[in-house]
Amino acid sequence: MLNRPDVAVVGAGPVGLAIAWRCAQRGLRVVVHDAAPGSGASHVAAGMLAPVAEAYFGEHELTGLLTASAARWPAFAAELTAATGLDVGYRTEGTLMVGLTADDLAEARRLWAYQQGIGLPVTPLRPSALRDREPALAPRVRGGALAATDHQVDPRRLVPALRTAAERAGATLVPAAVRSLSDLDTDVTVVAAGCGAAALTGLPVRPVKGQVVRLRAPGGGAPGFRHVIRGYADGEHVYLVPRDDGEVVVGATVEERSDTDVSAGAVLRLLRAAVDLLPELAEYDLVETLAGLRPGTPDNAPILGLLPGRPGVLAATGHHRHGIVLTPVTADLIAELVVTGATDPLLAPFAPARFAPPPTVDARSGHDPSGHDPSGHDPFAPEKEHTWN
Ligand code: GLY
Repeated sequence: MLNRPDVAVVGAGPVGLAIAWRCAQRGLRVVVHDAAPGSGASHVAAGMLAPVAEAYFGEHELTGLLTASAARWPAFAAELTAATGLDVGYRTEGTLMVGLTADDLAEARRLWAYQQGIGLPVTPLRPSALRDREPALAPRVRGGALAATDHQVDPRRLVPALRTAAERAGATLVPAAVRSLSDLDTDVTVVAAGCGAAALTGLPVRPVKGQVVRLRAPGGGAPGFRHVIRGYADGEHVYLVPRDDGEVVVGATVEERSDTDVSAGAVLRLLRAAVDLLPELAEYDLVETLAGLRPGTPDNAPILGLLPGRPGVLAATGHHRHGIVLTPVTADLIAELVVTGATDPLLAPFAPARFAPPPTVDARSGHDPSGHDPSGHDPFAPEKEHTWN
């Protein structure tokens, strides 16, 4: 029988496991609940640590948090490897942002100018300099820029490493789902359940579907390119993430849907854009197609901190497109809040209180404020069509 924990963490994705690790390191008794650790968005994620390439118009505060977390990644990865002996695939070659056509380049340049304008390190590259860095790029790629500080990690290596680190620090994993927070016997609960946070807390977290394709370089070798490539290709946005073991992740769609079906059209568009940018990918093995659900929020920013009116309940969710990069800062600052009660100023813009006070809801009530009805009922579904036999 377990001793009553000081902290229950709901969700064993990277964010939940890292919070558990940090809290256990600080001497707290920690239990992590998850029926299928690491099977959520992180299983699909490419692992880009891209505060520069993913700095978008109107997301200034989020960009600040992304930048702060990316700065913690080198030490975080080193500490994790030292604690576990496991390599998490942290790579620092940087990210090349490229445009295939003149129109693509015009669109990309507008964003790069914005990124430079807020002080982010974006270096324009002449086509010759681009090809010096990545000779495998298609000759018709019109231009690009380097985000040298945007790195990558392998989420499928990260999760087992975080789990090992958390368990070695004393945390206990309970492989079961949590239906209601009131079932947990603990002083402090941290809800790090991705999209599942909506049903548990009433917070406005909704699933945002992303489809990805995984390729493998033929012959067991490494891919023929080293940088993460983020491309605009005939209006399609695509990223290509090379791993040392030969894998290439091609992603991703962004769809306001809650299913995880893989569609032929999405795979076609991703692969066409990928091969337009890097023709050699046409000869790679196609090893996996899958879809995951990002936890999106009304302002695209995470929800971090104490829930108003719910003593002892904290949220660490809504990381949307940034769960992997935001893992270190989320873990550090949520653990600090749990241990000392102090809210770091970095967390202030992301407080749960910025949304209307959530009603007290749990999964048993059947109401999911994300708008996703788990019963499958959709009031906007078209009427069933006549079936021809
Ligand atoms: N950050 C990449 C994605 O969400 O697709």
